[in-house]
Amino acid sequence: MSILITGGTGYIGSHTCVDFIKKGLDVIILDNLSNSRAEVVDYIEQITGIRPKFYHTDLLDREGTKKVFDENDIESVIHFAGLKAVGESVLKPVEYYRNNIVGTLNLIDEMRAHNCFKIVFSSSATVYGKPKTVPIKEDFPLSTTNPYGTTKLFIERILEDLCVADDRFSVALLRYFNPIGAHESGLIGDDPNGIPNNLMPYITRVAKGVLPHLNVFGNDYETRDGTGVRDYIHVIDLAAGHYSALKCLEEKGVHIYNLGTGRGYSVLEIIEAFERVNNVKIPYIIAPRRAGDIAECYADPSKAAYELGWKAELGLDDMCRSAWKFEQLNTRK
Ligand code: NAD
Ligand code: UD1
Repeated sequence: MSILITGGTGYIGSHTCVDFIKKGLDVIILDNLSNSRAEVVDYIEQITGIRPKFYHTDLLDREGTKKVFDENDIESVIHFAGLKAVGESVLKPVEYYRNNIVGTLNLIDEMRAHNCFKIVFSSSATVYGKPKTVPIKEDFPLSTTNPYGTTKLFIERILEDLCVADDRFSVALLRYFNPIGAHESGLIGDDPNGIPNNLMPYITRVAKGVLPHLNVFGNDYETRDGTGVRDYIHVIDLAAGHYSALKCLEEKGVHIYNLGTGRGYSVLEIIEAFERVNNVKIPYIIAPRRAGDIAECYADPSKAAYELGWKAELGLDDMCRSAWKFEQLNTRK
């Protein structure tokens, strides 16, 4: 029996493949390489000693997706594949809805046709919109502020409705907070195309001299130093959270978990940690607030700890060290 990892050559998917292979699971990757590179499969092999089967397939391609299920005995699916750039989703909403939602519907169709009823879905803390209080618990009200977030919320609803209609399904909705960091080898990591939107890849490119300085988006928030506070989680911990989530799929129905650390760091604290751990300077300027940003966002991760036995272990220093190692070894830029 195999586990299908859609989006398995991407940032979180590749780390999850490594984690699963090391734990003895048989992994199959499906990815259209729209935001990742085929070489990632080589890196996964280099790290684990095992080469996962890889299908260069788009979830929008019905025949191609069917072939993956026809040729393998797939027991469960970890569904990472999707477009994820918030700003781009505002400019290209139709492309985002089609890719993320139609891609998921095609996947569900093939699962049903092949008697595969277990799925873990990559959701996001973005589905909490602008939370009234922190830490955020799973039963907080849901809303979105951009098409990317709306695709996440819609897919959550689709999977919930599916479970009501078909009691053979079990679904885990994992709401990630802010994954950063990379594998200790420096071979795989967060490698966005173009100018990064997210904080850590921007910082590593400033450290490398590819970008001149970091723009700190606002220092007048009601936080300890005025800059935005987020729950940064090491991608290695996040990957392990998927292994833990496989357990809950033994029980039918929908299971929802925050995957975060429960602790928030400000932008200035991230800069300070990165500089200290890596002994590099990050020049920055204070820029206006970024539209749509909130002051503070961090998880209450106790449900995952209690029910899945999963807890983030790695600290901010590890996240900064591994992110910088990956950037230094990355020859793409
Ligand atoms: P990523 O872009 O690195 O990985 C996604 C992968 O999916 C890419 O390799 C891409 O080529 C592939 N893909 C996209 N559309 C596809 C399609 N139609 N068919 C086949 N493959 C397709 O992103 P990531 O950071 O690894 O995120 C993985 C998932 O987690 C995404 O669904 C994302 O929305 C979600 N998520 C990410 C974060 C984050 O901060 N990175 C936070 C919350 C949720
Ligand atoms: C972003 C996404 C969110 C997604 C999350 C996890 C936006 C608006 N939101 O959230 O949908 O779920 O990533 O991937 O993109 N910052 C700077 N300068 C920068 C970049 C960021 O100061 O160049 C600040 C931000 O204002 C924020 C913090 O750093 O306070 C983290 O930003 P980012 O990494 O983009 O993540 P989120 O905004 O939390």
